[in-house]
Parts: sequence; structure tokens; C-alpha cells
Amino acid sequence: MEQLISIDINNLVSPAALNNPYALYAELREQHPVHYNPMFACWMLTRYEDVSAALQNKSLSSNWSETYAFGRELISSEMEALRHIKTYFSLWMQGMDAPDHTRQRNLSAKAFAPSTLKRIRHEIEGIVQSLLAKAKTKGYLEIVADLAVPLPAAVIFKLLSIPAEGESYVRATSHTIAEFFGIMNPAPGQLERMSSVLQQGEEYLKGLIQERRRKPGDDLLSALITAEENGQVLGENELVIICTMLLFAGHETTTNLISNGTLALFRNPDQLALLRQQPQLMESAVEELLRYDSPVQVVYRSTTTPLTLRGVTIPAGQNIMLGLGAANHDGAKFPEPAQLKLTRQDGRHMSFGYGPHFCLGAALARMEAGAAFTALLAQFPNLTLAEENVQRRPNFALRGLERLRCTF
Ligand code: HEM
Repeated sequence: MEQLISIDINNLVSPAALNNPYALYAELREQHPVHYNPMFACWMLTRYEDVSAALQNKSLSSNWSETYAFGRELISSEMEALRHIKTYFSLWMQGMDAPDHTRQRNLSAKAFAPSTLKRIRHEIEGIVQSLLAKAKTKGYLEIVADLAVPLPAAVIFKLLSIPAEGESYVRATSHTIAEFFGIMNPAPGQLERMSSVLQQGEEYLKGLIQERRRKPGDDLLSALITAEENGQVLGENELVIICTMLLFAGHETTTNLISNGTLALFRNPDQLALLRQQPQLMESAVEELLRYDSPVQVVYRSTTTPLTLRGVTIPAGQNIMLGLGAANHDGAKFPEPAQLKLTRQDGRHMSFGYGPHFCLGAALARMEAGAAFTALLAQFPNLTLAEENVQRRPNFALRGLERLRCTF
């Protein structure tokens, strides 16, 4: 998987890099561990040790959207649209630093209490059962459309109690956020279109929040509305943004874990057979699948003071991409990183980040993926990949598949 071929180390969105970014990462890790990428106007770190240290470095800011830029000049309507889009990153905890980050995270974490997760476990298993039963009647299974997309979406819609009529707004908004993460050079009109999709979602969510204020329910949105810490509650704009970003984080990423993970099992039949024989390995299997082909390949930070690393000084006010997928394939941490080993015990992968911004939904994502893989293996003993050439989504940051068709 990681043979060195002639590859443009800056072009993370070339068909070759989208198909297999690990070859490109290997070259960066070995030759240019602190690399300036002119196409993305930012720096990239790829070694496990550096990525892990950067995630814990308090002098690096998570408010990267302030300094985020594209590799080309924008016209004024694009700049206005970009300003609007950036509020989704600057007003959400993932793009904030302490103390604002701590406050929003503590308020949101109340809505992710272990008791909520315990309650939802059976519902997750029920959703998986009904999705697979529906697919069986068709005679084939398309993992992405039949399971990986609808499962996390149904779970997060249920957690926030989004009514059926709101689902299309929410889906469009969430895809727009995902799209933003993957663009390097926006097409004419792309940023303006994205901003208008977000605007429609905001109007819908404001109405829903008002309704929930009048009539709170037993759901995460009501919990967020009433969550209070030291006399502080979340404001309306903040609630809209948290809600949008939770809906995005809740389904785009877990979708990719289920589809990338299923593909990895197909491509490693010995590991698939092992998991069939020893289903008790599921917990460590999910961790290894997260490491092997991470759904989130990069996260961003920006320098607040000059940062010197491996003899290179990154000036203040620059953006840095932390290569989670690259760190997960660093041989210095994970021996034979290109091998899928479901029993691997080499330590923590970086797929959920690390430090103060560690993924708040990690337990939920693990639960959903575990339920999905368990049911797939138990109910489809002869599941086979129907096409070898799988198509990747055109997004380097959120790595996933367009389609994964199987027969059973
Ligand atoms: C396989 C699925 C998932 C992956 C790979 C993933 C990955 C990540 C990563 C890498 C971060 C850290 C970002 C940073 O350091 O800048 C993060 C943060 C976060 N994730 Fe996830 N995530 C997943 C699922 C979820 C789910 C299901 C939810 C919620 C429903 C969620 C909610 C969050 C939140 C709220 C944060 C921000 C935490 C903070 O800034 O303090 N994630 N996620």
C-alpha cells in the first residue's frame, strides 16, 4: 500500500492521492516532515510524534479559520460567502481555544452523558437490523447507500430529534460543511452556493430551536438548550452552529468509518476470516480499522508564535495541517503500518484527535461501527465485493467511498 511512486507531494486532491494518500504521506514523513504546501497555503506535519505533540501544544490555536486561505485570490462575493462559512468553524468548539472552547465543550458534553449512549445502544442495533432487512429484499447490498449513510444519519437525527420534514435541510447543510473541508481551489460560484445552503439550514434550525424552547423533549437539542454552566447557557446563533456541526460530525465521519472499514476487511481476507471466527475481537478491530484508513485525514491549527520544528521555523499566523492519517501510518509508532492487524496493540491511533479537542462523539461512533460490522458478519456469511475498482469520494480531508457494492 505504501510503495513510493512518482507523486506530487503537494497535490492531495489528485486522483492518485485520493486513491492512496499513504504513498504521498510516506514521502512527506521521510523527506519533508515539516512541509509548506503552496497549493493549500499551509504547512503539513506527518510524523506521529509531531502530530501528537502539536495536538497538545497550547501555543497552537484551533481558530484556524481566521487565517484560512485558498491558493488563489477571491472575488468580493466569494469573500463574503467565505466569511459566512467561516463562522461555522470559529463559533464551534472545534475551532475555539480555551476558555471559550472549555465552556462550549463542557455544556455540550452534558448532552453526551454515558446514560444517553447506554439508552441508544438498542436503538442503534434496531436501526442496523431494519436497514439490512430492507437490503436483503433487493438481493444485493450497497454498503454506502444501504448502511453507512443511513445508519449514522438516523442515529444523529434521533439523538437531536429532527422531524422528518427537516432532514433534507440538515443533510444539505451537513454535505456543505464536508464539501468545504475538501476544496482546495473553489469553482466559480461554489462558495456563494455553499453559503446560501447554510443560510437555509439556519432558518430551519432557528424555528426548530424556538419550538423546542416552548416544548422541550427528551433529546440532545433540548439538553443543549437547557444545559447551563456557572449560570451561562448557549446563545441562539451558537445553538444553530453547534447543532449543524453535530449533525455534520455525527454522520459524515461515521459513514466513512463503516465504508472504509468494510472495504479494508474485504481487501484483507485473512483478517476478515479472523473476525468471523473471533467476534470478540470487534472492539480492537474497530480501533485498527480507524487507524488503517482514517475517516478524518487532517485537522487544522494555526501558529500564534513562531514554531521551530526539526530545524524549520514556521512563522506566527500560519495554518498547519496535522496529518492524522499520515501519523497513523508512521512505522516509528506502528510496525508494518500498511498491514491491517485487528489484534494490533501498538498504542493510540490519532483518528479521533488527541488532547483538549479529542472527539466528543468517539464512543458513539465506536458503538455504531461495532453494531454495523457485527450484524454484517453475522447475517451475511458469504458477503463478497462485487467490483474491484471502488470509487473514492473527491475529498482528501474526509476520506470515504462513493459506493461499495457487494453480493451475498
Ligand atoms: C468515525 C467517526 C468520527 C471520527 C473519525 C471523528 C474525528 C474527530 C476528530 C479527529 C476530532 C478532533 C478535531 C481537532 O482536534 O481539531 C473530532 C472532534 C469532535 N467530534 Fe468527532 N469524529 C467522529 C464521530 C463523531 C460523532 C459521531 C460526533 C457526535 C455526534 C462527533 C463530535 C465531535 C465533536 C463535538 C468534536 C469537537 C470536540 C472539541 O473540539 O472539543 N464526532 N472528531
